[in-house]
Amino acid sequence: MEVKDINKIAVIGAGVIGNSWTANFIWKEYPVNLWLFTAEEENIAKQEIQEHLEGLAINGVFGKEKIPEMMKLINYTSSLETAVKDAQLIQESIIENLEIKQKLLADIDKFANPDAIFASSTSYLLISDIAKFSQYSKRCIGAHPYNPPHLIPLVEITIPEDDKGSIETAELAAEFYKTINKVPVILKKDVPGFIANQIQTAVSTICGELLANGVCTAEDIDKAMSFGPGLRWATMGPYLIYQLGGGKGGIKGLTLHIRGESEDLMSRKELETYANFIQGEVDKEMANRPPEFGNDNESLRKF
Ligand SMILES: NC(=O)c1ccc[n+]([C@@H]2O[C@H](COP(=O)([O-])OP(=O)(O)OC[C@H]3O[C@@H](n4cnc5c(N)ncnc54)[C@H](O)[C@@H]3O)[C@@H](O)[C@H]2O)c1
Repeated sequence: MEVKDINKIAVIGAGVIGNSWTANFIWKEYPVNLWLFTAEEENIAKQEIQEHLEGLAINGVFGKEKIPEMMKLINYTSSLETAVKDAQLIQESIIENLEIKQKLLADIDKFANPDAIFASSTSYLLISDIAKFSQYSKRCIGAHPYNPPHLIPLVEITIPEDDKGSIETAELAAEFYKTINKVPVILKKDVPGFIANQIQTAVSTICGELLANGVCTAEDIDKAMSFGPGLRWATMGPYLIYQLGGGKGGIKGLTLHIRGESEDLMSRKELETYANFIQGEVDKEMANRPPEFGNDNESLRKF
């Protein structure tokens, strides 16, 4: 299958994430079969999706008059078979429970085309576990959006381990997500919490410690984050920020300078090896960036 063959999407689950994914897909003109766990969810789903689209229209992303046509692209159904049988991408977004997701996948295996990509929105479960009993595990990926998916571009992708997954499926899904303006990242390992939630958990842990130790108030923490690193991190990740922070010496210079002062951390030789490694990683990252986003020290600084 190629990206151009994806022309119908099944969104499974009409909760917070399912409705936001649906808004994202129909905004990009993809017809969606939205599977409802209970028929009563239909009205709430309609209302939430409509509100998501109105939010985009108010901010000038498209004209408000386009919304009725977009809403017509949704087929609401309580039948799993109807939802998945003609879909090439199945974006599972049901309750975060391993057994329930495994059972759902077993049912999807009965009805869906074996080529259809099964993409789980799970936040913390492993796709290796969700797909453990699937006869089509190679079509399965973790595809974790950041809430709300119709606004936040990131999608973190994982595949089942032990040769049960397929990197081609991950790459195909990543190419597809790019066509709807998402920014996909394919992880090399299947880990709980992917990248962003692990970082977020680490930040939450430190915030909790600062509060518990009476160092500052919750308001102080929020201010420190929003008016400090949060402003930088909105435009660049920590490694590019270090690259900038190191001036002409880049992240290598910064690493040798700062970490070189803590001799107990690693030997000078280990430090130099690490500094060269991390500079190489950042150089590769910069080379992948479009010039207007900054792909060398000077253009990065201007950006
Ligand atoms: N909320 C977030 O911030 C966030 C962010 C990224 C990913 N996710 C992931 O997205 C998925 C959905 O999360 P959500 O926040 O939309 O949850 P939600 O509670 O809003 O929606 C869950 C949906 O699952 C349905 N459901 C409940 N029991 C079910 C069952 N037994 N079988 C099938 N469906 C059932 C509910 O009716 C509901 O439509 C989860 O895997 C979650 O980890 C959530």
